[in-house]
Amino acid sequence: MAFENNPTPSVVATSLIKSYPHGQAGVINVLNSLDLIIHQGEQVAITGASGSGKSTLLQILAGLERSDSGTVSLLEKSMHQMKDQALARFRNHHLGFVYQFHHLIDDFTALENVALPARIKGLTTAAANNQAMAILAQMGLSARLSHFPWQLSGGERQRCAIARALINQPEIIFADEPTGNLDHESAQQVSDLMMSLCRLNGATLILVTHNPHLAGQTDRQLTLVDGALR
Ligand SMILES: Nc1ncnc2c1ncn2[C@@H]1O[C@H](COP(=O)(O)OP(=O)(O)OP(=O)(O)O)[C@@H](O)[C@H]1O
Ligand SMILES: [Mg+2]
Repeated sequence: MAFENNPTPSVVATSLIKSYPHGQAGVINVLNSLDLIIHQGEQVAITGASGSGKSTLLQILAGLERSDSGTVSLLEKSMHQMKDQALARFRNHHLGFVYQFHHLIDDFTALENVALPARIKGLTTAAANNQAMAILAQMGLSARLSHFPWQLSGGERQRCAIARALINQPEIIFADEPTGNLDHESAQQVSDLMMSLCRLNGATLILVTHNPHLAGQTDRQLTLVDGALR
């Protein structure tokens, strides 16, 4: 597999601790000195009970939420040392996100939704649209360019959300239950497309899923238990 020839770490998390205040004086300990190393191009599934902290972990790894202590570096850059603007730029250029709920913009067509990260990156409308059309074609959505999100099926919306996450060819994709709302067949189709495009681009994929079948298709499966991965 591609990542085995590429020993560069893509994600390194060390001693992550995260708790949330709860009630008068209580706390919920979510991450308990969690360590994780993922190599560039590797596909890793994270499973774990509801409430075990999978989404919290992804948000912290992606720099969207701060841990109480510990460090995260992505592509050998320390997240903690980056200021907000630099972090936003880093995310736009290097990271992609797919969520259980598609988070597409309702007033934008499929094409406009997918082109947006490329426009933010600085491409002209024409260049961004060309890239969006190419990736929507890879997602089997060439016939849906001018559809608004509410005119797409659930599976089509998720494929559109994946196209948007991948348009800037990010090195790392975070996917938090991307197929959680889909029936078995659509879930398989959407995850096949996501995994094969990630492999094609050599991207690292961190996939949170409750679906053991999908988890089994990644290079490595980890379970979040008691705030740590095993
Ligand atoms: N902002 C917050 N404030 C307080 N508690 C929170 C907050 N966010 C998450 N939690 C708590 O932290 C724990 C972990 O939540 P998280 O969303 O990471 O779980 P999860 O593993 O993604 O669960 P699921 O599989 O249901 O999506 C839960 O007990 C949750 O109630
Ligand atoms: Mg979650």
